Amino acid sequence: MSGRGKGRGGDQHGKEFREMKIAILGPGRMSRALAGHWVKAGHEILIAGRTPDRAEALASELGPSAQVAGFPEATAEGDAVLMGARGEGVEWTLDQAGRRTFDGKVVIDMGGPMARPHYLGDVPSMAEDLQALIPGGRVVKAFNLNRACTWAMEKIVFDGYPLSIPMAGDDPAAKEVVAELIKSIGCTPIDFGGLERSRNLEAFAAVLVRLLLEGHDQFEVFNLLIRVPDWEGEPHSRIV
Ligand SMILES: NC(=O)c1ccc[n+]([C@@H]2O[C@H](COP(=O)([O-])OP(=O)(O)OC[C@H]3O[C@@H](n4cnc5c(N)ncnc54)[C@H](OP(=O)(O)O)[C@@H]3O)[C@@H](O)[C@H]2O)c1
Repeated sequence: MSGRGKGRGGDQHGKEFREMKIAILGPGRMSRALAGHWVKAGHEILIAGRTPDRAEALASELGPSAQVAGFPEATAEGDAVLMGARGEGVEWTLDQAGRRTFDGKVVIDMGGPMARPHYLGDVPSMAEDLQALIPGGRVVKAFNLNRACTWAMEKIVFDGYPLSIPMAGDDPAAKEVVAELIKSIGCTPIDFGGLERSRNLEAFAAVLVRLLLEGHDQFEVFNLLIRVPDWEGEPHSRIV
């Protein structure tokens, strides 16, 4: 781990996690929302973007822990790399960094099914496609089940419970890194298995996207909640 200080932080639940350097490739809505939490947790952010003004704007909004970098530099220096580009920009983004730059890197894919709303999990997932494009990378599917505005909440807690975030990936150590990033924003990681299971996560997201597009409220559509043994919050409604 090449984390800047290899320091340890603590979230509001007293759990521990490493402070890391996170490369964000594509400063869009999801990147902005997640980066805000990661900066508060003590991580450092390197932002690379197609539109320099947007990358600059996000870095200045995030403060001194964030800086703009080129795609290759951000990717090479990150302990984890968030693929922040929309689906149509993924290959372009990989090429800007250089595909071999991803060798050994933990790469988080949060791609949603906007371009494939009929996806049923019966062909390779976006995460598997990404893994095939960067065979040396360690792709983990995560953060794909909620809208950007959910991640933008100050505390990602529903009905007294922190949000649980399923991850799918073939590399256990890479999932451990992503689990720490999840814990550092006060959420609960769930290891959902190998990268092939990203098909289930993407098909699940297709259901949610359809419900949202059909007019359901984002908070009623999906909040995956589990009981956390050491959670000290005060749930105010009964789970049946
Ligand atoms: N938004 C959500 O609620 C949500 C929820 C779950 C998952 N996701 C997934 O998260 C990812 C990011 O979504 P987002 O909503 O944050 O996206 P976004 O705000 O629309 O933009 C993300 C980034 O993609 C870049 N981009 C777009 N088209 C590109 C192209 N053709 N070539 C290169 N770069 C391109 C943009 O570059 P510029 O800065 O130059 O415009 C921007 O930095 C997507 O895979 C999406 O499916 C989104």
